[in-house]
Amino acid sequence: MVDELVDEGLPLDPGWRAAFEAVPRHVFLPWLFEQLDNGSWKLITDSDPEWLRSVYRNRVAVTQLDGDESRRESALAGPVHGTPTCSSSEPAIMAIMLAALDVCTGNSVLEIGAGTGYNAALMCHRLGEHRVTTVDVDPANAARAAEHLAACGFHPTCIAADGARGYPVNAPYDRVLGTCSVSTIPLAWLEQTAPGGHIVTTLNRQLGAGLVKLTPDGERRATGRVLAEDGRFMPLRAHRGPKASDLVDRLRGAQARQRPTDLSATRLLRPAERFEFFAGLSLPHVMAWSGAHGETWLAHPDGSWARYSHHSVRQGGPRQLWSIAEGAHEEWLALERPPRERFGLTVSPAGQEFWLDRPDSPHRWPLD
Ligand SMILES: C[S@@+](CC[C@H](N)C(=O)[O-])C[C@H]1O[C@@H](n2cnc3c(N)ncnc32)[C@H](O)[C@@H]1O
Repeated sequence: MVDELVDEGLPLDPGWRAAFEAVPRHVFLPWLFEQLDNGSWKLITDSDPEWLRSVYRNRVAVTQLDGDESRRESALAGPVHGTPTCSSSEPAIMAIMLAALDVCTGNSVLEIGAGTGYNAALMCHRLGEHRVTTVDVDPANAARAAEHLAACGFHPTCIAADGARGYPVNAPYDRVLGTCSVSTIPLAWLEQTAPGGHIVTTLNRQLGAGLVKLTPDGERRATGRVLAEDGRFMPLRAHRGPKASDLVDRLRGAQARQRPTDLSATRLLRPAERFEFFAGLSLPHVMAWSGAHGETWLAHPDGSWARYSHHSVRQGGPRQLWSIAEGAHEEWLALERPPRERFGLTVSPAGQEFWLDRPDSPHRWPLD
């Protein structure tokens, strides 16, 4: 698995490489769920012949569905349906986030989202168990993570707590790492980060998600950048939005006049297309999904919707989402197609805002 990460050119300095090589991922994954083509989840346990092969590869490993421990029992009888609520993240994105943390010997770290405990174990290996605090909102996950960590000889602070509030008991921290995504940056994280420290997290946005790195100034304000690498994590529990399936039900049968469009769904929605991040700035809280017959849907909880297929679009509700996306595309072209890493973020009790290139830029978008 480590060779795979290195071959893919991931940033593994000697310290993190040693941690990935030393910490056995299988201890944190006595079982995992693998998704089948029909969307259901197959349980793989340590008694299955493919278990170790599934553990030691550069893949996210889902360990819990719908926050319901009993799903594992049911899955012993055959594949089950559900939404992942805990996983060991993809090792590649772990490596990217750990590199972005930019730790030095002696740094203390708060991790939000203990999950399986694997990432905390890597941090214990690198920084020492007394420098690591990890919390999970789900008591079952926190207890299991602590057990797995102990099995590897690590005893960091690993407890059940709502990470939206940070964990003031061990603050201040030199680094704060969010391993569940957030819709806005919790101000508690700013307050609990030592001046000059860093916060690294992913954003919970279906369009324009990704990684950000912020540096608080000790005055309840932080400034930072959107990172070049993309990264999408399951959301912090309180930041979960509505499910796409709920919106689909509401939109069934929605009709509107069809018109041609030059903006393709691929250009709008594929993160590899540089426009996707910029589009997300103008379309916060918009969900997107593929329907039947090559259709793409956009919908917002306010009832706005757009349905794209084969260079034409229909849209309805209070706002014309596809027209907003087309306007954003024009603006993006006029700004000479800035990629995500040209954007930054300022966070303070007064608000949270993205900007282009410089914190005082006239080009600004709210994060809310
Ligand atoms: C992708 S997993 C984290 C992966 C983990 N770091 C690992 O190495 O296995 C996300 C975790 O965030 C947890 N989580 C969700 N909301 C949270 C919150 N408000 N506070 C703390 N943890 C939360 C979930 O229960 C889940 O275990």
